[in-house]
Order: sequence, then C-alpha cells, then structure tokens
Amino acid sequence: MNEAPLSFEAAAFQCFVRGLRGVWRDEAYRGSVEAAQRAGSDEPAEIERKARHSPAYSLYSWLERHSQQFKYYGRYGVVRWMEERKDTLSKVLEEAAKRHPQRLQLDPALELPEYVRAVDTHQHGGGIWGDAADAFAYETSSSAYSFSLFNPRLPMDLYAATAQRLAPQAKEVLDLGCTSGGSTRALKKAFPDAKVTGLDVAAPTLELAHLRSLEADLEVHFRQANSEKLPWPRASVDLVASHWLYHEMPPAAVRRSLTEARRVLKKGGGFMAYDMYLVPGGAIGRWLQAGYAARNNEPFAHTYAGMDMEKELEAAGFKGIEMKIAHPEPSPEVQAGALPPHRTHFMTMITAQAA
Ligand SMILES: C[S@@+](CC[C@H](N)C(=O)[O-])C[C@H]1O[C@@H](n2cnc3c(N)ncnc32)[C@H](O)[C@@H]1O
Repeated sequence: MNEAPLSFEAAAFQCFVRGLRGVWRDEAYRGSVEAAQRAGSDEPAEIERKARHSPAYSLYSWLERHSQQFKYYGRYGVVRWMEERKDTLSKVLEEAAKRHPQRLQLDPALELPEYVRAVDTHQHGGGIWGDAADAFAYETSSSAYSFSLFNPRLPMDLYAATAQRLAPQAKEVLDLGCTSGGSTRALKKAFPDAKVTGLDVAAPTLELAHLRSLEADLEVHFRQANSEKLPWPRASVDLVASHWLYHEMPPAAVRRSLTEARRVLKKGGGFMAYDMYLVPGGAIGRWLQAGYAARNNEPFAHTYAGMDMEKELEAAGFKGIEMKIAHPEPSPEVQAGALPPHRTHFMTMITAQAA
C-alpha cells in the first residue's frame, strides 16, 4: 500500500510544512481579515491595494504560495521524493495494470487539453499527468492533508451520501476527474451493485487508481477520457458526479462538460458537482479566494466561481438545480455565508436532474 514510504527525516519535514500551513490558516489568516476589514472596501482589488503592506497579509500570502512549494520541492518534498523512486513506482503500476486489465482502459491517442498542459496546477511542476512519480506525489500530498488541513475523508463521505440520495437506484455511474480514484471508490461503496467508472485525462493517475482499487478489492473501472467528450452513448448513465473537477477547467470547457453530462444521462438521471464554487464572506471572501487561485496556480478556480452555474445547467438541459455550501467540517458560520474563524476551502455541492 505504501510503495515509497517517507523516511523519518522526510516525514518530519512534512510535519514542519504542516505547521507552517497551520500558521497560514489561523494567525496569518485572522490578521489578514482584520487588515481587509480596516481597508473598508467592497472591491477585492481595492482591499488588495490597501492590505498589501500589512505584515499579517504579507506572511499569509507568502505562506500560501511557498508552503506548497516546500511540500513538493523542499529538501524532502514529495515530488522530489517520488522522482528519485520513479523506476520502482513505474514498475508497480505496470504490474498492477496486468491484473484485471479490462478494468483499466487507457487511450494513448487522447490529447491532453491545453488548460491541463499549460498550467502547473497546485504549483506541481509539469502537473500530475506526467509519470508515475507525479501520480504518487499527488496522492501522498492530498491524502496526507488537504490545503486547508481538513481530514480528506470527510468530503468523500459527504460525496457518497449525496450521490445515494440523488440517484438511489443508479446502475451506471461516472466519476469525472477521478485522479487516483478516492472519489470513485467512495461511489463504488455507495453503489456496490452498479458499474462505477472513474474518468480522467491523465494516464498515470488512472493506473494508480486501478492499483488502489485492486488493493481495496473493489471492482471499479477507470477510463482515460476527457469529460468534454464522453465515450458513452446518449441516455446510458444514471449518475454523473465529480469532485474537485470544474475549478480546474475554463468556462467553455465546463460548459461542454455539462452538455456531455446531459447527453449521456438518462432522463431524470442525477448530476452532482462537489467543488469550490460559492464564496462566502462577501468582498473579503472573494479577495481571499482570488488570491488563493493566483498563488496556488489554480486560475480557473476564479473563473468557475464567476460562472452562473444555475443558468449554465438549465441551458445544458437540467432541472431541480440546487446548490449550497456544503463544507466537510460543518461550521455554522460558513453555512450561513460568513467568513469562518480559520481559512479553509469553501466547498459547494451542486445537484440537478436531467430534464
Ligand atoms: C483535483 S483533481 C480531482 C480529485 C479527485 N476527484 C479526488 O477526489 O481525489 C482534478 C482532476 O481532474 C482531471 N481533469 C482536468 N480536466 C479534465 C477533463 N477535461 N476531463 C477529465 N478529467 C480532467 C485532472 O487530470 C485531475 O486529475
């Protein structure tokens, strides 16, 4: 299960980075919010201009960018760590691909979208689609702790429970942008009798998803495909779900993906997107979110938050659209639309039915 365990020194280094993240999330965040409140503006750009020189915000923004780089590329950063073990990790994935090969369908001819190739998402140089080392590094970094330090299992539980409520009888389920399959396995556990397929554009991460599903003894399928062009026939799917996908796609690509989701869904089928979308906290919340998107190389987190998803879903042929902040650590402040006492990702659950 753990093919490249971190040494004592590397684990200690990652604890240090987590500690830095804690300062970012708590003290530096609170000081930044106070500086923004003093700015007294309803315009994120104006808040940025006035708060820029506050020591707390300088620290906050520096930590937001650089603690991520330490995590990946510091002396014991996870990308570096996996890079040095790349040959072994590639072999592990090759061997796994030979077991139940019908469950892993790669498409070497698939062209990676420009927006995936061009952005070092999360500051991961070259992205997670390059090779085995990239896939393992992303898995280690996201399973050890999310950017805002919440327990990564919490969102999965909510994802699965919402899917069950939305499409209790589902027999054909798609999980778009599945990466190493954490969200796909959560869906398989929620729908043990369904055919559950995780899709992603990145081959190495799908190979890792396949390995992890074999280890978990779950019959999950993985397919390399672009959510903008789903290799499924019209009206053949009961549920199309995604966790953390759309904030990584530009608006035109999100739009094509919604149209495709509607095309493959049966009438009345469920659509669900769990991602950063609604931003509570008014102008200060939008200022913090735009800064996060820029500093962590997630440019489309900003454009996705600017889309009118209700309108987009209606135009794509959905009805019964609901969206609400559904943060994995339920906090009354966040649910009510206020800034929480510490910096966190604001997760929104969007659900709809194919009209
Ligand atoms: C933040 S990760 C998703 C995390 C995953 N769902 C989980 O729960 O662990 C986003 C994933 O979306 C994939 N992706 C980006 N654009 C895509 C597209 N157009 N079609 C399919 N996958 C895409 C990326 O390769 C990446 O693996």
